[in-house]
Amino acid sequence: MTYNIALVKGDGIGPEIVDSAVQVLEKVGQRFNHVFYFTEYLAGGCAIDATGVPLPEETVKGCLASDSVLLGAVGGLKWDNLPGNTRPEKALLGLRSALGLYTNLRPAKLYPALRAECPLRPDIVARGFDLMMVRELTGGIYFGERGRREGKFGLEAYDTEAYSVVEIERIARVAFEAARKRRGRVTSIDKANVLETSRLWRETVRRVAEDYPDVALSDMLVDNAAMQLVRNPSQFDVVVTSNMFGDILSDEASQITGSIGLLPSASLGATRRGLFEPIHGSAPDIAGQDRANPIATILSAAMMLRYAFDLPREADAMEAAVDAALNDGLRTADIVGDSGIKPLGTCEMTDEIIRRL
Ligand code: IPM
Ligand code: MG
Repeated sequence: MTYNIALVKGDGIGPEIVDSAVQVLEKVGQRFNHVFYFTEYLAGGCAIDATGVPLPEETVKGCLASDSVLLGAVGGLKWDNLPGNTRPEKALLGLRSALGLYTNLRPAKLYPALRAECPLRPDIVARGFDLMMVRELTGGIYFGERGRREGKFGLEAYDTEAYSVVEIERIARVAFEAARKRRGRVTSIDKANVLETSRLWRETVRRVAEDYPDVALSDMLVDNAAMQLVRNPSQFDVVVTSNMFGDILSDEASQITGSIGLLPSASLGATRRGLFEPIHGSAPDIAGQDRANPIATILSAAMMLRYAFDLPREADAMEAAVDAALNDGLRTADIVGDSGIKPLGTCEMTDEIIRRL
């Protein structure tokens, strides 16, 4: 089969880690007889520099015409003081909404080989965890009306959260379907003791749950969830939540794996086309130094094969190659901890993973 992949390398370490994932995909293509065509598009700070806007029209068109998008990371100090709508981050929000990517899947699991990196207590680490965060991605407060106005105390700013039944239903279905392929549990997270959007969220998720009698649903308030994630993360299987709560909790979930450099994500919509990117940012402080961990991007490419192209064997092979490299004690600088292991650079780690494919 032939697949057209749009590459949005972005800023900072983005280009290096996307190049790594491309090399791994090429090896997978050889081994399993697929041809991947890659076309590069600009987004983020590099697009601002080249075209004046974070998300050029050409990028949106190119991504829409592709079979899927592999993205590195956007942003950096240089563009940090630009006004809201012209910031590099706007490119991400714009792409998600232009491609209709309302689902964000962020798996977070503890790798046995990296237990020493986990910041949690040993008895919690011993239980391990493996959860799938399902974050709503194109609604809520990140896309609501916002602005500034004169208020009771002078100038004020406001952002608004709105969720429709349709938006809640479709993300709830994604979560229940995911749970069926995992351990059959969904925890829906909200702030229903305060927010009206959360009350509608809870009602709607409970109604959708009736179509999934084989899946166990529980609700949890977001502040409690933040606590439970560090107290007993093994209780979670699939977690479903709104855009902002998911943004915050997924960073927390990634941190307790001890290795944000390892975590991939998939953004999906109603079609097979998705956007796949590492959870971490553009790490401008180490850009261009061959020090970045390419694994999160390689695993994001594996998610692309699994979710967008329906190639589970190929995705399994990529994930197994990463596991093998980690089990063999290979580490990049971000995950050496105090193991005393000499860290590999981005290129060396990529080669080692390819060798294990
Ligand atoms: C993420 C990021 C983005 C988000 C930012 C950069 C807009 O934090 O992907 O989690 O909030 O969605
Ligand atoms: Mg975030």
